[in-house]
Amino acid sequence: MLALSFQDVVKAFGPVQVLHGVSFSLDAGRIYGLLGENGAGKSTLMKIASGYEAATSGQLCLDGQPVRFANSRDAEAAGIVLIHQEFNLAEDLTIAQNIFLGHEKKKRGGWLDDAAMRREAAAVLQRVGLDRDPDTRLRQLIVAEKQLVEIAKALARNARLLIMDEPTATLTPGETERLFALMAQLKAGGTTILYISHKLDEVERITDEVVVMRDGRFITRAATRSLSRAQMANLMVGRELSDLFPAKQLPPTDAPVRLRVQDLSVPGWAEQASFEVRAGEILGFAGLVGAGRTELFEGLLGLRSSSAGRVEIDGQAVALRSPREAADLGLTYLSEDRKGKGLHVAMGLTENLTLMNLRQYAKPWLRKDQERQALGDAVREFGIRTGSLSLRASSLSGGNQQKLALAKVLQPGPKVVVLDEPTRGVDVGAKRDLYVLIHRLAAQGCGVIVISSELIELIGLCHRVAVMRAGRLTTTLQADRLSEEALIAHATGTH
Ligand SMILES: Nc1ncnc2c1ncn2[C@@H]1O[C@H](COP(=O)(O)OP(=O)(O)OP(=O)(O)O)[C@@H](O)[C@H]1O
Ligand SMILES: [Mg+2]
Repeated sequence: MLALSFQDVVKAFGPVQVLHGVSFSLDAGRIYGLLGENGAGKSTLMKIASGYEAATSGQLCLDGQPVRFANSRDAEAAGIVLIHQEFNLAEDLTIAQNIFLGHEKKKRGGWLDDAAMRREAAAVLQRVGLDRDPDTRLRQLIVAEKQLVEIAKALARNARLLIMDEPTATLTPGETERLFALMAQLKAGGTTILYISHKLDEVERITDEVVVMRDGRFITRAATRSLSRAQMANLMVGRELSDLFPAKQLPPTDAPVRLRVQDLSVPGWAEQASFEVRAGEILGFAGLVGAGRTELFEGLLGLRSSSAGRVEIDGQAVALRSPREAADLGLTYLSEDRKGKGLHVAMGLTENLTLMNLRQYAKPWLRKDQERQALGDAVREFGIRTGSLSLRASSLSGGNQQKLALAKVLQPGPKVVVLDEPTRGVDVGAKRDLYVLIHRLAAQGCGVIVISSELIELIGLCHRVAVMRAGRLTTTLQADRLSEEALIAHATGTH
């Protein structure tokens, strides 16, 4: 059992102060939800608690004793393990190697005990419900599977305080249930859990208490039961929130078709999918993880091998061989995997934003001033919270990285945008801002495609929703027929 307290914790990155003296304490053996808007400082505070970052000033106490961690191994030795929001896994290593990275098991004589590591890895994989050979390399896994490897890794370290930074952002409902069961089991065994999430329904279900942060400050700690979801949201943003979804504006029935896809097949993932989206229309794609939604669009964009009867943008037949080529033809794509494919996290904010559209800024040479102005505009329009414009993308908070990725695909003024999980990890206030932006984009005549695992989002946002099941487009539901029950029934084939 482990009780933790923060005393006047301050963190500054250079001139930018992000934590302004945070003090609160946690009791052992409970599950806490940590809430706050994007950029509130949740991840930063938890990185300090787990030895990944050093506080600028202030104190951390474990069971009443002041502690100072030089690195994450120190913290792990004290029983504190962080599961990162942005995965911290080595793509070229196997699952077993990742699980034991830095904690390798050795035989007498100092040789690595691969057999023991593989065996224990298999055991923790079973606990998290990931049915994969421990020798599989990370790069072969899909995002949700990588998340489960992160959780397995934490279990193998026998955490007494387990910090989970948005662990369910990429999980299916079934995997989420399994994770919750696991959390309840860990709690019963005396583990304290800190759970960061923007999904308030989950926070309501799984946590005993919530801690709310706002703008780098501690706001309150309260029993989860004592707060409604709306109250939680209001505490996070410090004001009353209006309706999450803006009113839908139906496009005129004679609006031109922006994108038409006929008989698109992606071997192993999708078969003969045909669909179209008109100017002003927001078309959703629903389906279970593995139904082939992401893969279908990766095929369309030339990221996977695929074949199509015909693809048209504004009535012109096109062949899209890469996202770059697609962007030149007016179709831009936001990947669900923002770290892997969406952003170049090691590059600056400006470079990220203008990369898609480099040619516009390179007439005849790169216009630095225009680039900076575009970044300033995007930061304002998308409400990206950043202390400075000259940061690297990796130093933005998770939700703010997502907003930057979105700004990046909307920047060139596309005819069609495909957004894969656009609001993943985005706080409730910012979600609404993104929905307003998506509506505005449609109103300007863009055809918008939104792939989402949040049914409420598809229902609130879209004019029509196409449902995929096992690689096939099974149906398309009009706005007036959209309900969670209907979407689930079509996605699982039980209608
Ligand atoms: N290395 C860094 N350099 C500069 N600023 C940073 C760095 N790391 C984080 N920040 C800033 O600190 C602030 C808090 O970020 P943090 O990641 O803690 O937010 P968060 O509450 O986890 O948000 P989210 O819900 O989006 O994940 C952000 O404004 C972020 O840009
Ligand atoms: Mg975060």
